[in-house]
Amino acid sequence: MAKITAPSVRAQKVRAGAEPLVMVTAYDAPGARIADEAGVDIVLVGDSLAMVVLGYDDTLQVTVDDMAHHTAAVARAKPRCLVVGDLPWMSYHVSLAETVRNAATLVRAGAQAVKLEGGRKRLESIAAIIDAEIPVMGHLGLTPQSLHAFGGFKVQGRERDAALELVDDAVALEEAGCFSIVLEGIPDEVARMVTDAVSVPTIGIGAGPHCDGQVLVFHDLLGIEDRITPKFVRRYGSIKADAVAAMADFATDVRNGRFPADAESYHLNDAQAEALGLYGAAAAERSA
Ligand code: KIV
Repeated sequence: MAKITAPSVRAQKVRAGAEPLVMVTAYDAPGARIADEAGVDIVLVGDSLAMVVLGYDDTLQVTVDDMAHHTAAVARAKPRCLVVGDLPWMSYHVSLAETVRNAATLVRAGAQAVKLEGGRKRLESIAAIIDAEIPVMGHLGLTPQSLHAFGGFKVQGRERDAALELVDDAVALEEAGCFSIVLEGIPDEVARMVTDAVSVPTIGIGAGPHCDGQVLVFHDLLGIEDRITPKFVRRYGSIKADAVAAMADFATDVRNGRFPADAESYHLNDAQAEALGLYGAAAAERSA
């Protein structure tokens, strides 16, 4: 099967008859292999890395080096899916030169596209990255890098003006050349307006069923993160509970002397054992 590319994703609009896009986050090679074998279209090496893998309270803590390290791990799995590297906070806010250099760092690590958060105020950054031949995925709505500006993780676009701003932002991102747009934490009705307003696919997370695709965070989808379940998450596995149970079984077996069994142990052959005086003539001689 052919490698999924930014242009092939760009063409996948549901109203044109395409299937909805499936995107998940992944942060390492095993995660990328799981997503790829499951037939996922896009793997996002998201800055959610900060929270679900590195244990921080928000996404503001990861750097370009962190993102490149994990993008490279995902890319080493050589997935068929499109690999998108997330530009972290402050990697595209200082200057256009730094923005392009940071996007290139993620591409050199193995990403085939980058994602950045924000609407019209990011148009220059998006244009500069695209000018360097790097495809850009947009991200609107409850953009987690704006946590402090929003005053918390709050659903966006509930009021008329804010909803219309989101539509205008999405149209501007499409015009700037984004090949797809993530819509996060916005009302279903607003996501539908945005999706209708653009010809590039929208990919929703907490944005209702009318987007052109859906994305979930790896650890939420599989039940590895089980401390909080946001309203928009559906758990398709209980890997954390399964892992705890498996490790508890291991601990019990070790403590009861049931692990390892003979079949799980290496053994010397007769000559090697005899050379060490463990049995046979040498052992008999020693015990005499
Ligand atoms: O970092 C991330 O995981 C994301 C998704 C929620 C879209 O940006």
